[in-house]
Amino acid sequence: MCGIVGYIGRQKAAPLILEGLKRLEYRGYDSAGVAVLENGRFSVAKRIGRVANLEKDGATQRLAGTAGMGHTRWATHGGVTDANAHPHLSSDGTIALIHNGVIENYAQIKAFLIDKGYTFKSETDTEVLCNLIAYHHAKEPAGHNGDSRFVESVRKTLRHAEGTYGIVVMALDAPGELVTARKGSPLIIGLGDGESLVASDVAAIVSRTQNVVYLKDGEIAHLTAKNLAITTLGAGAVEPVIDKVTWSIADAELGTFSHFMEKEIFEQPAALENAMRGRFSEDGSTANFGGLNITAGEFRGIERFMFCACGTALHAAMVTEHMIERFARMPVECDYASEFRYRNSPLFRNTLFFVMSQSGETIDTLAALREAKRKGYKVLAVNNVVGSTIAREADGGIYQHVGPEVGVASTKAFTSQLLIGAMLALYIGRMRDLSFGEGVRFVEALKSAPGLARIALEQAAHIREIAKRFAHYTDMLFLGRLSLFPIALEGALKLKEISYIHAEGYPAAEMKHGPIALISEKCPSVFLVPSGEMLNKIISSMQEIKARKGPIIAIVTASVELPAGLADETIVVPEAHEAVLPIIMSIPVQLLSYYIAVERGCDVDKPRNLAKSVTVE
Ligand code: AGP
Repeated sequence: MCGIVGYIGRQKAAPLILEGLKRLEYRGYDSAGVAVLENGRFSVAKRIGRVANLEKDGATQRLAGTAGMGHTRWATHGGVTDANAHPHLSSDGTIALIHNGVIENYAQIKAFLIDKGYTFKSETDTEVLCNLIAYHHAKEPAGHNGDSRFVESVRKTLRHAEGTYGIVVMALDAPGELVTARKGSPLIIGLGDGESLVASDVAAIVSRTQNVVYLKDGEIAHLTAKNLAITTLGAGAVEPVIDKVTWSIADAELGTFSHFMEKEIFEQPAALENAMRGRFSEDGSTANFGGLNITAGEFRGIERFMFCACGTALHAAMVTEHMIERFARMPVECDYASEFRYRNSPLFRNTLFFVMSQSGETIDTLAALREAKRKGYKVLAVNNVVGSTIAREADGGIYQHVGPEVGVASTKAFTSQLLIGAMLALYIGRMRDLSFGEGVRFVEALKSAPGLARIALEQAAHIREIAKRFAHYTDMLFLGRLSLFPIALEGALKLKEISYIHAEGYPAAEMKHGPIALISEKCPSVFLVPSGEMLNKIISSMQEIKARKGPIIAIVTASVELPAGLADETIVVPEAHEAVLPIIMSIPVQLLSYYIAVERGCDVDKPRNLAKSVTVE
């Protein structure tokens, strides 16, 4: 959840670290800090609030060292205070450390260290790790396997640490070195020209280098400006695998947009094109996926599917459930990853597992993946971030290919998951009862999605005006049916997370079994209204709301004609194939939430209490 950046090279470290931290701020933004090693001492600047606060502070301008590290915090242990912000120094001043994760046995370690005379300034679990490294470092003779004493003291510490961590460590007596290690929190090493970097996300280092090494759980990396050596917790040597990042710094910049969420909403036509590029068969009747690592024969032996995910990704999985059941006629179950991991539900044989995760680092989703694998099931991942932990641990999967998603509120990652879910339904359906002709029509429909998304985006100015009239409400309902019910859930989640308006998503007909009690002129409803067989049923639900004076925003497809006066506001999107409709309906829902949040003056890209990827339980 926290953002981590480390640098060692020829340049002044602090400005590069601050630049990297700004790109990582979406990971956590309670407080920020930088430490550099200069003139034989650590200089540290840290304070609560945003990176901009820290940058304004003259202290960071004066930091001149060429090795350093920085951190943006999302508080777990200890409140949001300057003292709890990272980096932390050991009480003897020899070790500096930044940390993402949670050390579960910190209380025992702390008691041990207090006994040894170490003192603590903060309430964090991180300071405990820092002092334990200092303790081992002070006692450590020359290391094993050619490792430095510094690496060995980190290794000894981590063998005692229970929980999760991504750390960067500096030692006063090792000025040209950084040590970094991970378990459960992502870390990426950048190998530049005479400089090395480490970060919790590629976005922080892509302006310096595109050559990266994804550190794995249980690995410890020892970095100098020109060298990288990786060993394991057990002290075995690891040969680093250098990957090339395929996107550039422009992908992670705002350009002419006001917020990343706005940029990412408008990027959706291109994102959809990227997600399906090269993924249709030559005869144009089905989808192809390169990385499933499962043969067509094995696929035919599958009798049911299970999807686990969290938040927005779970909503995408729920739409996928509908698509696979509808077009492939196969049973699908969806579960919150956080529930599945503890529920110990009875599972069927011949079940194929899927996890969906934009970041590929969500701890609950990762735990669900591990639980399913432990039970002997194959697990495939739909995931956007290349090299993420979920991508690496899954048996195979499908990359979303939509570039970095920076806004905390997921938008383009969501619609690309919907697209991939529909493509999966097509792929499985074509192995079963879906005919060649139906397959061809399905492929054509999917190919139309980017164009239809562009048309839906043309409603932006109209939706902005509606948002101005609805921004003052404190409660809202989102209502849809069948494959649009998860889009109603997603609309409510989007509105809640960025505008802090209380919102609920419901199947439109279920509304009369309880939520209708909330309806009054103070509680508007957003209805998702496609043409087709459910139209009259949905109109009946709208009439029930209207009869109770509830204001209505109707998002309708082009051919829908509503009874006069039924909707207070109408947003029209193009007609679309059943497999594409949820994608097209998502766009006005996202725009409505975005403009309402802007109207309310909310910090859209960094909503309170949230972080982009949730890597703690
Ligand atoms: C999306 O708007 C949310 N911020 C959140 O629900 C998110 O989708 C969830 O945390 C899962 O993230 P993931 O896709 O990276 O696993």
